[in-house]
Amino acid sequence: MRKLYGVLFLSLGTVLMASALTGCAGGGSDGRRIVRIGHNQATDHPTHVALLEFESYVESKLGDKYDIEVYPSELLGSQTDMVQLTQTGAIDFCVASNSILETFSDNYTLFNMPYLFTSSEAYHDSMDDEAITGPIFDSTKKAGFEAVTWIDAGTRNFYTVSTPIQSPADLKGLKIRVQQSPTNVEMMRLLGGSATPMGFGEVYTALQSKIIDGAENNEMALTSNGHGDVCKYYSYDMHQMIPDILIGNCAFLDGLPQEEREVFEEGFAVVNQVERAEWTNAVEAAKEKAENEQGVQFLYPDTAPFQEICVSMHQTLLEQYPDLKPFYDAIQVHNQEHMQNTEGGT
Ligand code: GCU
Repeated sequence: MRKLYGVLFLSLGTVLMASALTGCAGGGSDGRRIVRIGHNQATDHPTHVALLEFESYVESKLGDKYDIEVYPSELLGSQTDMVQLTQTGAIDFCVASNSILETFSDNYTLFNMPYLFTSSEAYHDSMDDEAITGPIFDSTKKAGFEAVTWIDAGTRNFYTVSTPIQSPADLKGLKIRVQQSPTNVEMMRLLGGSATPMGFGEVYTALQSKIIDGAENNEMALTSNGHGDVCKYYSYDMHQMIPDILIGNCAFLDGLPQEEREVFEEGFAVVNQVERAEWTNAVEAAKEKAENEQGVQFLYPDTAPFQEICVSMHQTLLEQYPDLKPFYDAIQVHNQEHMQNTEGGT
């Protein structure tokens, strides 16, 4: 897909309306099946880069049959909208934060727990462990969509317009934007701030107009979404490692002939690998830009007081969703493995 996004935006409503009415995404004028993928990041973001690689990979193998179109920057709507469009088959795939998926299936609550993973190595190993992700990724099939791979979205931390966050007490009375998930709202309540759930695309304006005092996200939000133009303090409290999830419409996926399905599966692996390879450098570059060009100050508070407040949520959520316990325990094994590695110096 190489088109002008502005033109697309105007025509998209009509296209999606037509496909929603027929219950499926459409065929192109050249007879190829158009495969639409939506996400909410800008075109400089690792997610977009990885999806363009997916497009190239699948089209290099099946380009006579499929035309992959990647729509960035919420062109197809907010993440919640896009999940619904994927559910009905109006579009074929979208990237949604694990937080948003919690409102579609309780199982996704697991990866939203604050301080669930004790290191990024344990996070990556857990998300690569299909014994953990498989049942959760399949659990929305009845609802019409399934997860096909996960995407690294780093570590989430608090950032504010003008209040340095050095301890939970500093959050008191501050309106902090969180993603629309009950777990995130509860986490914010426990930490003493006032949770303001809203879609990602609304955050910049809300910060600028002082409707909120801050937000929480990885470093990319400062640069790629411009939040560092307004927020001058970014505080590494490390409260969550929340993956993004690429989800696909089940009817589309199940309708693929075996050999085509395999190509798509290989493409999903490409998304995961390319995005992860891009991520580390992208975060480094974002930090440098935020510090040197946007004047953001990075703070490194003691994370223990934040963690002590949030840790009770693990027990509460496991009591609420006992089916998640085996997966939670399997994550603890990965946590242990990496702690031992660190202690043993390997
Ligand atoms: C990250 C994440 C997105 C999510 C956003 C948010 O950028 O990658 O999927 O939408 O956070 O906070 O809403």
